[in-house]
Parts: sequence; structure tokens; C-alpha cells
Amino acid sequence: MVVLIKDILTSNPDGRPVDVYGWVRTKRDAKNLAFIQVNDGSCFASLQLTFDRETSNNVEAIDKVLQKVSTGASIHAKGNLIPSPASGQAVEVSLTELELIGESPSDYPLQKKHHTVEFLREIGHLRPRTNLFGAVARMRSEMAFAVHNFFHENGFFYVHTPIITSSDCEGAGEMFQVTTLDIEALAKKGEQPNYSKDFFGKKTNLTVSGQLEAETYATALSRVYTFGPTFRAENSNTPRHLAEFWMIEPEMAFYTLNENMDLAESFIKYLLNWALKNCSEDMKFFDDRVQKGIISTLEGVYSANFERMPYTEAIVALEKSGENFEYKPFWGCDLQTEHERFLTEKLLKKPVIITDYPAEIKAFYMKQNPDGKTVRAMDVLVPGIGEIIGGSQREDDLQKLTSRMLELKLNPEDYWWYLDLRKYGSVPHSGFGLGFERMLRYVTGVANLRDVIPFPRAPKLADF
Ligand code: 4AD
Ligand code: MG
Repeated sequence: MVVLIKDILTSNPDGRPVDVYGWVRTKRDAKNLAFIQVNDGSCFASLQLTFDRETSNNVEAIDKVLQKVSTGASIHAKGNLIPSPASGQAVEVSLTELELIGESPSDYPLQKKHHTVEFLREIGHLRPRTNLFGAVARMRSEMAFAVHNFFHENGFFYVHTPIITSSDCEGAGEMFQVTTLDIEALAKKGEQPNYSKDFFGKKTNLTVSGQLEAETYATALSRVYTFGPTFRAENSNTPRHLAEFWMIEPEMAFYTLNENMDLAESFIKYLLNWALKNCSEDMKFFDDRVQKGIISTLEGVYSANFERMPYTEAIVALEKSGENFEYKPFWGCDLQTEHERFLTEKLLKKPVIITDYPAEIKAFYMKQNPDGKTVRAMDVLVPGIGEIIGGSQREDDLQKLTSRMLELKLNPEDYWWYLDLRKYGSVPHSGFGLGFERMLRYVTGVANLRDVIPFPRAPKLADF
């Protein structure tokens, strides 16, 4: 039976025989003593194998294998689990047998203890073997589990919304087209593509959001959420954008904006608490090596209330700030990252939910306020990141929604099924989208979203 190193590390060091499988992090050999640090990724810590030539009855055989054991090699070792005299580890394994499974020649790229994230991005297939990317991968998996747990505990159902769609949820036109037409051949002939002859008989794209489809299930099952890959062809070469990212989108029937905000706040806090409680070993590493003090920052966020501030007030605060912004704030402008970060980091020093944005800068589906200018939108901004969640109450009035679509030159016929939700048993409803990578960046302190997703996709970046 293969036992994980995390389970060996927490076993009683009573001399019991253990089998160890993993990859060698380091080997040190001095006179009579040799040490191997083995890691299998099951937890942050490595397990130390100790080979004492003075007491071993298997010196020759082990020495023969040991010569070929180097950083990166995979091994199988047998030994006895004993208390460790060394500091920083409770147990170690005194080696009785050693087998080399796969050698690792001297050109193995991860020889040094520290590499830059830029270098590691070029060897994306090996970076999960480093401390940083191992910790991030475990954290990502834990956080995904926490997401499902949160919704499961709160009466939500998980709905799988489609990846290929024919609608543009956000209306921003940042879509990757999906087609089986031979574009090159058409271009050579100087012909325009005829989408009625395309695979789906119409123009289709990769989804920018599962929201519209989630609404169909929310208006049947009351509380649903989607959690899946999302694609945006925005040419934003920034640490906070990916072309392929994962989004969590809850959608709740009978919820107004206030209840939507309450849910968003308790969701973020649940995830932070989960990380602090269940991922303490990896969190300690992020705190030591990635962002000093992140644990106490997150603990502070967990116990404080998020601010809530209407957009109009936020603009006044920005105008009065005396800051030298690159983009001058004015009523009607979209908030830039610099504005968001001023509000959450400098002015309030905690997460803030900005509400009631101008209709002109938000998507067609948001509920219109009686003032005729703003909509029931909400963005959650957090220190260090800016926007982490975007959401709204949805327009549930058929007439108002249709006229807004016409104003924006959207064809209501293309959205006939979406409009039907307002025709048959329409209800107030709300939802939001949390960018999973932005959340991971918030929890780990890792600065670039490219380093919290296993295989980042960004402009000019789709190598493997
Ligand atoms: O604000 P957005 O565009 O909202 C929507 O898509 C709504 N349909 C959500 C809803 O109401 N159901 O995106 C939501 C979140 C953002 O706040 C951000 O965290 C993340 O998705 N996001 C991105 N993350 C990484 N790379 C990108 N290019 C992102 N674009 C948005
Ligand atoms: Mg947004």
C-alpha cells in the first residue's frame, strides 16, 4: 500500500516500518551520515531519510543506489519511523533499503532552492514540484472544495452551464469565437463566412459568464450556482487578468441587492476562514515567504464588517481625495483599479461594496433604479486586489428589460428565452460572480493570476 508522506509525518515515531515514495528535494552526504529530503506533494513538508553508515546493516547496497540519487529523482525507500533529533521536524526515517525509481540527470531545471516566478512560468510542467506552486495547487483544490461546501450548506444546487454559447452575457464583445468553418480557405477565396453553414447554424463563442443560463435554474430551484471556466478575449496584459479563468456565480430567486451583498460578504469570509483553519501549513509559507502578515490581515478581514458605499458617494470621495490619479474620476466614469485601490486600501482600509453604478457602464440585465440613471449593481473591492466580485439585482420587469436591450442595440429575439423568465412567474432575483483566481490571489498573496492557475492563458500565452 502506498502511504502519503503527510500521513507518515503525523504517525507515531515508535520505530514502525514505513515505505516512502516521492521525489528527492535534496541529498546531503557527509562521512558516516547521509540525509535525503523526500517530498510527495501531499503536504508542504518533506520527510527526512537518514542513513547512518555506522549502524546500518545494508551499507553497500544503499550506497550503490545513493550515488545515483539526485535532486528531482523519484525513489522508494524503506525504513523505521523514529523521533528526529533535528529541529524543525518531529520524525524521520532511518533508512534500511533504497530504490531508485526514476533518475534525474544534472540538467534538471530545479536545482536551486529559489527560482523566480518568471523562470518557473517557462517550465510550467515542473513548477508544481516547487514549494510555492505545490502550496498554491493544494490551496486551489481546498478552496474549490470550500466553495462547494459553502453552497451545499446554504441550500444551493450546482448547475453546469454551457461553455459554448451564442449570447454575450456582459455585452462587452470580448469573446473567443467557436467555429468549424474553414476561415483560411474562405479568406483565400475572398468570401465572407456564412454562419448558417457553421456547426451550430449560427455564430457561437466561448462563454464570458454562466449567469444568464444560471438565471433559468434560479427561477426554478431558487438557489443555484455555477463554477466553471470562463473566457475573455480582452487584451489586458495585467497581473489581474486571464483569458481563461474560473468563475463562481451564485444566482438567487427572491433576493434583492441587500441580501446579495450579505451573501457575498459571508461567502468571502467563509473562504478566508476555511483557508486559515484547514490550510495552516501552506498559509504559514505564504505568510513567511510571499506576503508578510497575510494571516493576520485575513483574520482582520474575517472579523470586520465590509463597508457599503453607493457609487455616487465613492466618486465624491475620489474627487476630494487629493490623489494624483492617472484617470481623473468623474460621475459616470468606470472605476479604474487605481480608484478601487484608493477606496479599499487608503480610504477605508477594508473591503468595500460599491453599489448603484451608472447604467451606462454596466450590463443590460441589471435592475434599473427609480432615478433613471443608476442600476442595482454591486462590486466588492478588497485591499491589494481591487474588484474581486461583480454582481447585481437583475431587471425582472419585462418591459423595462426589453426597452433597455433595444437602447443597447441588442436584439430581444436573440434573448427570447431570457425574456420568458420575466414573462412567466417573474421574481426579483440577484447574483454575483467571484473570480476564483482573484480570490486565490487574495488568500495566498501571490501577485500574478498566472501563478494561481495551473496552466495560464493570456495574450500570447498558450504554450502548454
Ligand atoms: O464583473 P464581471 O464581468 O461579472 C460577470 O461576469 C457577471 N455575469 C457575474 C454575475 O453577476 N453572475 O466578472 C465577475 C468577476 C470579477 O469581479 C473578477 O473577479 C473576475 O470575475 N474576472 C476575471 N478574473 C480573471 N481574469 C479576467 N479577465 C476577469 N474578468 C473578470
Ligand atoms: Mg466587473
